Amino acid sequence: MTRPRFPRNSKIPIGRRIRISHKMAVMAQHVGLLAWACLFAAAAQELPDGAGRAELEKWCRNCHDLGKSVSVRQDRDGWTLTMTKMAGYGMKITDQDYSLVLDYLVKNYPAEDLPPVNVNKATAIELESRLGLKRSQAASVLAYRAKNGDFKSLDDLKKVPQIDPEKIEAKKERITF
Ligand code: HEC
Repeated sequence: MTRPRFPRNSKIPIGRRIRISHKMAVMAQHVGLLAWACLFAAAAQELPDGAGRAELEKWCRNCHDLGKSVSVRQDRDGWTLTMTKMAGYGMKITDQDYSLVLDYLVKNYPAEDLPPVNVNKATAIELESRLGLKRSQAASVLAYRAKNGDFKSLDDLKKVPQIDPEKIEAKKERITF
Protein backbone atom coordinates (compact mmCIF):
# COMPACT_ATOMS: atom_id res chain seq x y z
CA MET A 1 0.00 0.00 0.00
CA THR A 2 1.59 3.31 -1.00
CA ARG A 3 1.39 6.19 1.44
CA PRO A 4 -0.29 9.38 0.34
CA ARG A 5 2.38 11.95 -0.54
CA PHE A 6 2.49 15.21 1.33
CA PRO A 7 4.26 18.21 -0.16
CA ARG A 8 7.81 18.60 1.16
CA ASN A 9 6.94 21.85 2.93
CA SER A 10 3.59 20.62 4.25
CA LYS A 11 2.45 22.34 7.44
CA ILE A 12 1.13 19.08 8.85
CA PRO A 13 3.57 17.75 11.49
CA ILE A 14 5.35 14.46 10.69
CA GLY A 15 3.63 12.44 13.43
CA ARG A 16 0.21 13.47 12.18
CA ARG A 17 1.20 12.76 8.58
CA ILE A 18 1.95 9.19 9.54
CA ARG A 19 -1.31 8.87 11.41
CA ILE A 20 -3.24 10.20 8.41
CA SER A 21 -1.37 7.87 6.10
CA HIS A 22 -2.24 4.94 8.31
CA LYS A 23 -5.89 5.95 8.52
CA MET A 24 -6.12 6.24 4.76
CA ALA A 25 -4.47 2.88 4.28
CA VAL A 26 -6.96 1.24 6.64
CA MET A 27 -9.86 2.96 4.91
CA ALA A 28 -8.64 1.84 1.52
CA GLN A 29 -8.37 -1.69 2.84
CA HIS A 30 -11.96 -1.61 4.08
CA VAL A 31 -13.24 -0.27 0.79
CA GLY A 32 -11.35 -3.04 -0.97
CA LEU A 33 -12.79 -5.72 1.29
CA LEU A 34 -16.28 -4.34 0.85
CA ALA A 35 -15.93 -4.43 -2.93
CA TRP A 36 -14.84 -8.07 -2.76
CA ALA A 37 -17.69 -8.96 -0.42
CA CYS A 38 -20.18 -7.41 -2.83
CA LEU A 39 -18.66 -9.24 -5.77
CA PHE A 40 -18.86 -12.59 -4.02
CA ALA A 41 -22.39 -11.93 -2.78
CA ALA A 42 -23.47 -11.02 -6.32
CA ALA A 43 -21.85 -14.12 -7.77
CA ALA A 44 -23.30 -16.38 -5.06
CA GLN A 45 -26.81 -15.02 -5.44
CA GLU A 46 -26.99 -15.95 -9.10
CA LEU A 47 -26.78 -19.66 -8.40
CA PRO A 48 -30.04 -21.43 -7.52
CA ASP A 49 -30.12 -23.35 -4.24
CA GLY A 50 -29.74 -27.10 -4.22
CA ALA A 51 -27.51 -30.11 -3.65
CA GLY A 52 -24.15 -29.58 -5.30
CA ARG A 53 -24.14 -25.80 -5.19
CA ALA A 54 -21.59 -25.57 -2.36
CA GLU A 55 -19.33 -28.03 -4.18
CA LEU A 56 -19.63 -26.09 -7.42
CA GLU A 57 -18.71 -22.89 -5.58
CA LYS A 58 -15.74 -24.64 -4.09
CA TRP A 59 -14.32 -26.12 -7.29
CA CYS A 60 -15.48 -23.93 -10.13
CA ARG A 61 -14.06 -20.57 -9.10
CA ASN A 62 -10.44 -21.58 -8.79
CA CYS A 63 -9.42 -20.67 -12.34
CA HIS A 64 -12.17 -18.34 -13.54
CA ASP A 65 -15.25 -16.76 -12.02
CA LEU A 66 -18.45 -18.65 -11.30
CA GLY A 67 -20.22 -16.66 -13.99
CA LYS A 68 -18.13 -18.36 -16.64
CA SER A 69 -18.71 -21.75 -15.02
CA VAL A 70 -22.45 -21.51 -15.60
CA SER A 71 -22.27 -19.48 -18.82
CA VAL A 72 -23.65 -22.27 -21.00
CA ARG A 73 -26.87 -24.31 -21.16
CA GLN A 74 -26.48 -27.91 -22.24
CA ASP A 75 -27.61 -31.49 -21.65
CA ARG A 76 -25.84 -34.12 -19.55
CA ASP A 77 -23.48 -35.07 -22.39
CA GLY A 78 -22.50 -31.44 -22.81
CA TRP A 79 -21.86 -30.90 -19.10
CA THR A 80 -19.91 -34.16 -18.87
CA LEU A 81 -17.72 -32.88 -21.70
CA THR A 82 -17.20 -29.56 -19.90
CA MET A 83 -16.23 -31.33 -16.66
CA THR A 84 -13.77 -33.52 -18.57
CA LYS A 85 -12.34 -30.40 -20.19
CA MET A 86 -11.89 -28.70 -16.81
CA ALA A 87 -10.19 -31.81 -15.44
CA GLY A 88 -7.90 -31.57 -18.46
CA TYR A 89 -7.10 -27.99 -17.45
CA GLY A 90 -6.00 -29.32 -14.05
CA MET A 91 -9.14 -29.41 -11.86
CA LYS A 92 -8.55 -32.09 -9.23
CA ILE A 93 -12.11 -32.64 -8.02
CA THR A 94 -12.99 -35.68 -5.87
CA ASP A 95 -15.26 -38.34 -7.41
CA GLN A 96 -18.04 -37.59 -4.94
CA ASP A 97 -18.01 -33.86 -5.63
CA TYR A 98 -17.77 -34.55 -9.36
CA SER A 99 -21.17 -36.31 -9.40
CA LEU A 100 -22.75 -33.69 -7.15
CA VAL A 101 -21.56 -30.82 -9.32
CA LEU A 102 -22.49 -32.60 -12.55
CA ASP A 103 -26.03 -33.33 -11.31
CA TYR A 104 -26.42 -29.75 -10.13
CA LEU A 105 -25.34 -28.36 -13.50
CA VAL A 106 -27.58 -30.74 -15.47
CA LYS A 107 -30.57 -29.85 -13.31
CA ASN A 108 -30.11 -26.08 -13.10
CA TYR A 109 -28.47 -25.29 -16.44
CA PRO A 110 -30.19 -27.64 -18.91
CA ALA A 111 -30.20 -27.31 -22.67
CA GLU A 112 -32.72 -24.80 -23.83
CA ASP A 113 -36.10 -26.39 -24.46
CA LEU A 114 -36.74 -25.00 -27.90
CA PRO A 115 -38.66 -26.95 -30.53
CA PRO A 116 -36.56 -28.27 -33.43
CA VAL A 117 -35.97 -26.06 -36.44
CA ASN A 118 -37.95 -26.78 -39.59
CA VAL A 119 -35.30 -26.21 -42.25
CA ASN A 120 -37.95 -25.80 -44.96
CA LYS A 121 -39.49 -22.84 -43.16
CA ALA A 122 -36.62 -21.35 -41.18
CA THR A 123 -35.33 -17.86 -41.87
CA ALA A 124 -31.62 -17.15 -42.25
CA ILE A 125 -31.52 -15.71 -38.71
CA GLU A 126 -33.06 -18.87 -37.26
CA LEU A 127 -30.58 -21.05 -39.09
CA GLU A 128 -27.76 -18.96 -37.69
CA SER A 129 -28.92 -18.67 -34.11
CA ARG A 130 -30.54 -22.09 -33.64
CA LEU A 131 -28.23 -24.30 -35.69
CA GLY A 132 -25.05 -22.28 -35.33
CA LEU A 133 -24.61 -21.80 -39.07
CA LYS A 134 -22.45 -18.99 -40.39
CA ARG A 135 -24.23 -16.18 -42.20
CA SER A 136 -22.91 -17.37 -45.58
CA GLN A 137 -24.02 -20.96 -44.85
CA ALA A 138 -27.52 -19.85 -43.88
CA ALA A 139 -27.76 -17.85 -47.11
CA SER A 140 -26.59 -20.90 -49.02
CA VAL A 141 -29.34 -23.04 -47.44
CA LEU A 142 -32.01 -20.51 -48.47
CA ALA A 143 -30.64 -20.29 -52.02
CA TYR A 144 -30.53 -24.08 -52.35
CA ARG A 145 -34.07 -24.40 -50.98
CA ALA A 146 -35.38 -21.76 -53.40
CA LYS A 147 -33.77 -23.55 -56.32
CA ASN A 148 -34.45 -27.21 -55.44
CA GLY A 149 -37.58 -27.12 -53.32
CA ASP A 150 -38.09 -28.52 -49.82
CA PHE A 151 -35.45 -30.65 -48.13
CA LYS A 152 -36.73 -34.17 -47.47
CA SER A 153 -33.93 -35.57 -45.36
CA LEU A 154 -30.71 -34.83 -43.56
CA ASP A 155 -28.82 -36.09 -46.62
CA ASP A 156 -30.55 -33.45 -48.78
CA LEU A 157 -29.42 -30.77 -46.36
CA LYS A 158 -25.85 -32.05 -46.35
CA LYS A 159 -25.68 -31.46 -50.12
CA VAL A 160 -25.93 -27.69 -49.70
CA PRO A 161 -22.70 -26.00 -50.85
CA GLN A 162 -20.55 -24.59 -47.98
CA ILE A 163 -22.37 -26.70 -45.39
CA ASP A 164 -20.28 -28.86 -43.08
CA PRO A 165 -22.05 -32.28 -43.12
CA GLU A 166 -20.55 -33.23 -39.76
CA LYS A 167 -22.00 -30.17 -38.12
CA ILE A 168 -25.42 -30.99 -39.58
CA GLU A 169 -25.12 -34.56 -38.31
CA ALA A 170 -24.25 -33.28 -34.82
CA LYS A 171 -27.36 -31.09 -34.77
CA LYS A 172 -29.77 -33.66 -36.23
CA GLU A 173 -31.87 -33.79 -33.05
CA ARG A 174 -32.72 -30.14 -33.58
CA ILE A 175 -33.71 -30.42 -37.25
CA THR A 176 -37.08 -31.26 -38.77
CA PHE A 177 -38.47 -31.16 -42.31
C1 HEC B 1 -7.95 -25.86 -13.20
C2 HEC B 1 -8.61 -24.69 -13.69
C3 HEC B 1 -10.12 -24.74 -13.92
C4 HEC B 1 -11.08 -25.13 -13.02
C5 HEC B 1 -10.91 -25.59 -11.58
C6 HEC B 1 -12.34 -24.96 -13.72
N1 HEC B 1 -12.13 -24.47 -14.97
FE1 HEC B 1 -13.55 -23.99 -16.36
N2 HEC B 1 -12.12 -23.30 -17.61
C7 HEC B 1 -10.77 -23.38 -17.40
C8 HEC B 1 -10.07 -22.86 -18.57
C9 HEC B 1 -8.55 -22.78 -18.73
C10 HEC B 1 -11.07 -22.48 -19.49
C11 HEC B 1 -10.88 -21.95 -20.89
C12 HEC B 1 -10.31 -20.60 -20.90
C13 HEC B 1 -11.31 -19.62 -20.41
O1 HEC B 1 -12.35 -19.49 -21.05
O2 HEC B 1 -11.03 -18.97 -19.37
C14 HEC B 1 -12.34 -22.74 -18.84
C15 HEC B 1 -13.58 -22.43 -19.41
C16 HEC B 1 -14.79 -22.83 -18.90
C17 HEC B 1 -16.07 -22.64 -19.55
C18 HEC B 1 -16.30 -21.88 -20.84
C19 HEC B 1 -16.63 -22.78 -21.99
C20 HEC B 1 -15.53 -23.70 -22.38
O3 HEC B 1 -15.81 -24.92 -22.44
O4 HEC B 1 -14.42 -23.24 -22.68
C21 HEC B 1 -17.02 -23.23 -18.76
C22 HEC B 1 -18.50 -23.36 -19.04
C23 HEC B 1 -16.33 -23.75 -17.59
N3 HEC B 1 -14.98 -23.49 -17.70
C24 HEC B 1 -16.95 -24.42 -16.55
C25 HEC B 1 -16.32 -24.86 -15.40
C26 HEC B 1 -16.99 -25.55 -14.31
C27 HEC B 1 -18.47 -25.92 -14.28
C28 HEC B 1 -16.04 -25.78 -13.36
C29 HEC B 1 -16.22 -26.51 -12.04
C30 HEC B 1 -16.70 -27.89 -12.13
C31 HEC B 1 -14.77 -25.25 -13.86
N4 HEC B 1 -14.99 -24.70 -15.09
C32 HEC B 1 -13.57 -25.29 -13.16
C33 HEC B 1 -10.14 -23.85 -16.27
C34 HEC B 1 -10.78 -24.33 -15.14
